[in-house]
Amino acid sequence: MKPRKLKTNVYWVGAVDWDRRLFDELIPLPDGTSYNAYLIKGSEKTALIDTVDPTMTNFLTSNLQLLKVKNIDYIIANHAEQDHSGTLPQILKLYPNAKVIATPKCKDLLMELLLIPEYKIVTVEDGETLSLGDKTLEFIHAPWVHWPETMLTYLREDKILFTCDLFGSHLATSDLYVADEAAVYEAAKRYYAEIMMPFRTVIQRNLEKIKDLQIEIIAPSHGPIYDKPNFIVEAYKEWVYTPPKNIVVLPYVSMHGSTKKMVEYLVTALVERGITVKQFNLTKTDIGKLAMALVDAATIVVGSPTVLVGPHPKVIYAVYLANALRPKLKFASIIGSYGWGGRTVEQIKGMLSNLKVELLEPVVIRGFPKEDDFRALNRLADEIVNKHREHGIVS
Ligand code: FEO
Repeated sequence: MKPRKLKTNVYWVGAVDWDRRLFDELIPLPDGTSYNAYLIKGSEKTALIDTVDPTMTNFLTSNLQLLKVKNIDYIIANHAEQDHSGTLPQILKLYPNAKVIATPKCKDLLMELLLIPEYKIVTVEDGETLSLGDKTLEFIHAPWVHWPETMLTYLREDKILFTCDLFGSHLATSDLYVADEAAVYEAAKRYYAEIMMPFRTVIQRNLEKIKDLQIEIIAPSHGPIYDKPNFIVEAYKEWVYTPPKNIVVLPYVSMHGSTKKMVEYLVTALVERGITVKQFNLTKTDIGKLAMALVDAATIVVGSPTVLVGPHPKVIYAVYLANALRPKLKFASIIGSYGWGGRTVEQIKGMLSNLKVELLEPVVIRGFPKEDDFRALNRLADEIVNKHREHGIVS
């Protein structure tokens, strides 16, 4: 993809990664991603905002050549993670006059992670500005979206907010701006769920911080650019502020069908009681879909067989992730089956320590479910619906 103009002397110069399918060796990327870098040519100085993943250095350098960029004065490092700062060393070699602009915490990380020499980095405080002549950059410290050093950069004259990861989406597309809102909403929600959700309360503060800025364009460093900024700001408000919905998320594994029978029975009982259920077989599911479901859910019910006296390892993985992502969940329970004993309930309970959830009495049974077990599942379904109603969580 060649450079693309956003405004006079403001260009997208990044790279679209159509083929990437895994991020951080953890997060599935069903639709690829992009690493957006931006070039701003002021009347006196030139700035590059972020770089690209090191695997795509050539795309950035060829875009700069196509724009005949002879000199870069500043490289704004909004975030030290390597998918945005990993090409800094090569750009600093190509443009030896350039200084890197970063928060003090980002400076430290750039020196540690990318071995950028200290003298190359200039730190900026929250609210500080940098003149490029006819264009002015304002730096807004926004820690923990999603590392401690992150900042946003606002281009005053053009009313563009460069947000790096915040508001981003892992979506490879030839559209510079959002064209298909439904597709971008899905990708941005997945991104929020996987990357930003653990920092929900911090994001609330950051939304407050930018609420009075006049913003015409939000330009993140992943996915398409928002020329209707309200679309993504309102989506974030929904994900961050609104109470959980009348939804149960039910991730499970079943080895021999007993837990599966319980899952099927409970799902039917919950649906009959007017609750939406999102069921995930953890041997097949895309973990990103599970993360997205957790954005809105009020309750999680974990289904697990007992393996070597504990939960199935795939259940441990999913519970660990749910706990780390800190969704808005209010209630949790556990269902499952064992052959001769085990500590499945205690181990899953112990892994939910980050979540401020009330644990509803689990239904963990021996062998294949029988009449008493189905009665216990009905009792659990009743308890969930009653708890939801007590908390005003209704459809
Ligand atoms: Fe897209 Fe946190 O890097």
